[in-house]
Amino acid sequence: MSEEELYTVYKGVFVPNVLHPSDSLQYAEEFLVREGDIFVVTYPKSGTTWMQEILTLIMSGGDFTPVLTLPNWDRVPWLEEHRTKELQMNERPSPRTLSTHLHYHMMPKSFYNSKAKVIYVLRNPKDVYTSSYYYYQMATYLVDPGTPDEFLMKFLDGKVMFGSWFDHVKGWLSAKEQVLYISYEEMIADLKGSVSKVCTFLDKPLSEEVMEKIADHCTFKNMKQNKMSNYSLVPKEFMDQTKSNFLRKGISGDWKNLVTVAQAELFDSVYKEKMKGIEYKFYWDE
Ligand code: PPS
Repeated sequence: MSEEELYTVYKGVFVPNVLHPSDSLQYAEEFLVREGDIFVVTYPKSGTTWMQEILTLIMSGGDFTPVLTLPNWDRVPWLEEHRTKELQMNERPSPRTLSTHLHYHMMPKSFYNSKAKVIYVLRNPKDVYTSSYYYYQMATYLVDPGTPDEFLMKFLDGKVMFGSWFDHVKGWLSAKEQVLYISYEEMIADLKGSVSKVCTFLDKPLSEEVMEKIADHCTFKNMKQNKMSNYSLVPKEFMDQTKSNFLRKGISGDWKNLVTVAQAELFDSVYKEKMKGIEYKFYWDE
């Protein structure tokens, strides 16, 4: 099916209809952000599920019960997703944990100037493109990606779910609220150090031993076994993990196995143009 059939244009970007029907988008728009709310914010395929797991474990003080008994979409629900409005979020005690793929300008009015905290996870866009390419093959609610060349054009043009990676990152880099920027690559390089960084940001000190245990549970190998995080609870007609896995490779630099030299050159020239003037030091540019 085409983009017109599967996606809605919401505040200028494509969102998949099945996951985000109009009443869910309205719910997100009217959501009342509270002091103490913690948001995991990402462009899709940047490490959302990984940070949802880390955050849950930090907030539970290292108790594994929630990550082993509740699916990630219940523990750290997406603000804009169809399931969330059934979760009675207003009855959850603070601090509540939420996720979102929304661009900065799409957040609910109550978010701006709130005392909410945001953990923004960034990932090398070439790896985001690569992870997305395989994901679009297995998720039936998304438009078939076509060839890597075709999908690359759509990705660079922002004609994919949640729009342009460049706009998403630039928008969130301009946020005025309390934001911790952390990259997928940094988490790969030093997972325990990344857990510690999140603890400091949230003012939630944990012992070295507990942080060690959290980092160990959150390795790719271990998370792949957790049915509350590996999406094996999602029916096959919605997400066909015989085509690719949700927790697929879990590495940085896999783009080198998909992107040709010519495609990488095009990617780099678009990146350079779109990110002109951005002073933030991206991990992958170093
Ligand atoms: S989504 O659909 O937007 O929620 O996807 P998201 O969770 O943001 O991204 C999926 C990619 O993150 C990888 N992942 C991990 N990598 C390393 N370690 C751990 N623990 C981990 N958990 C998830 C997942 O494998 C996807 O990346 P790729 O490159 O496809 O493997």
